Amino acid sequence: MKYNIAVIRGDGIGPEIVEEGIRALNAAAKRFGFTLAYRDVLMGGCAMDELGTPLPQDTISACKSSDAVLLGAVGGPKWETLPGHLRPEAGLLGIRSALGLYANLRPAVLFDPLKDACPLKPEIVSGGLDILMVRELTGGIYFGERGRKRGEHGEEAYDTERYSVMEVERIGRIGFEAARKRRRKITSVDKANVLESSRLWRETMHKLAKEYSDVAYDDMLVDNCAMQLVRNPARFDVVVTSNLFGDILSDEASMITGSIGMLPSASLGNGTLGLYEPIHGSAPDIAGTGAANPLATILSCAMLLRYSLNQPDAASAIERAVQQALEEGWRTADIAAGKPAVGTREMGDIVCRRIETA
Ligand code: IPM
Ligand code: MG
Repeated sequence: MKYNIAVIRGDGIGPEIVEEGIRALNAAAKRFGFTLAYRDVLMGGCAMDELGTPLPQDTISACKSSDAVLLGAVGGPKWETLPGHLRPEAGLLGIRSALGLYANLRPAVLFDPLKDACPLKPEIVSGGLDILMVRELTGGIYFGERGRKRGEHGEEAYDTERYSVMEVERIGRIGFEAARKRRRKITSVDKANVLESSRLWRETMHKLAKEYSDVAYDDMLVDNCAMQLVRNPARFDVVVTSNLFGDILSDEASMITGSIGMLPSASLGNGTLGLYEPIHGSAPDIAGTGAANPLATILSCAMLLRYSLNQPDAASAIERAVQQALEEGWRTADIAAGKPAVGTREMGDIVCRRIETA
C-alpha cells in the first residue's frame, strides 16, 4: 500500500514538530509494510510571506488529492496586524471548510505517568481522565456573517452564530457513533437558555438521542460545562458541541490533562480524508530552540493512520511508543516540571526507536 500525505509545516514550531511526526510515521510504515509519500504545501503565515495569501489554491488542490493532511501549527505575532482575511488563522479556517472537515475530534487523556502535571487535586482525577471532545468545525459563529457598521453610538462590529439542522445532525451522529465505541455516554453542550441557535441544536440532539437509545445522553449549558470540567471531569465521556464552545472547552480539557503539548486532533468530513494537527499553537516564543514537545504531533500521526489510512496497528504502535517513552521518564520541558528535559529531536528519536518494537 502507498499513501499520499500533504504536509503543512506552518509557522513557529510547526516545522520542528512536523519533522518528528513524519519520522514517527516512517518508522511505523517501515514496521508495518506500507509506503508514505509526502508533499509539502504552504498555508498560514509562511504562505502569506511567500505567496501573499494564507491559503493558496494549490494547497487546497494538493490536500484534496491526498489521503491525509498533516499540519503543524500556523500563526504568530508577525501576522497579527493583518486584516482578518489575510491572517494565518484564515488559512486554517479556509482549509477546514474547503475540505469539508466538519468534525473535530480532540481526545483529552490523562497519561498515567504525567498525573503529577495535572493541576487538579489528585482525588479529582484518581480514576483517570479520558474525554473525547467532538467539536463542530465548519459552521457557527466562525463562519457566520460578520462585519462592521455605524450604530447609534458610533462604530459597531458583529459576528453571527448560525446552525442548520443538517449541520447539527451530522456532528451529532459523529458524537453518538464515537460514544458507541467508548463508554456509551454523550453530553451535548449548548447555551439553550439564551441562544436560539442552541435551542435548535438541543432539539436536534434530542431527536438523535432517540435513535441512539443505547447511549446515555445529557445536555449541559456551556458555563456549567466549564465548571464541571474542573469539578468532576471524570463524569464526561464524549462531549459534542459547537465550533466556538468546542474551541474554548477543548483548551480547558487539555489543560486539566497536564499539558496542551500532549494532545492530538483529527478533523474529519464524510470521506476518509482528514486533517491532523496538535491542538496547541505555533508557540513563536520557543520556535527554533528545539525545545517544543513533538508528542501531540506524533499522536496526531497515530490518529492519521487510524482514521484516514486504516492502519490501526501502526497507530497503536505509535501510541504505545509514546506511552513507553513517558513511562521511562522521558520529558520535554513543558511536561518536565523543572526536572531535566530532552529536546524535540531527541524525544522524536526516543519514540521512533520504540515504534520498532512497541
Ligand atoms: C484551534 C485554534 C483555531 C480555532 C484558531 C488558530 C483559528 O484555536 O484549532 O483550536 O479557533 O479553531
Ligand atoms: Mg483553539
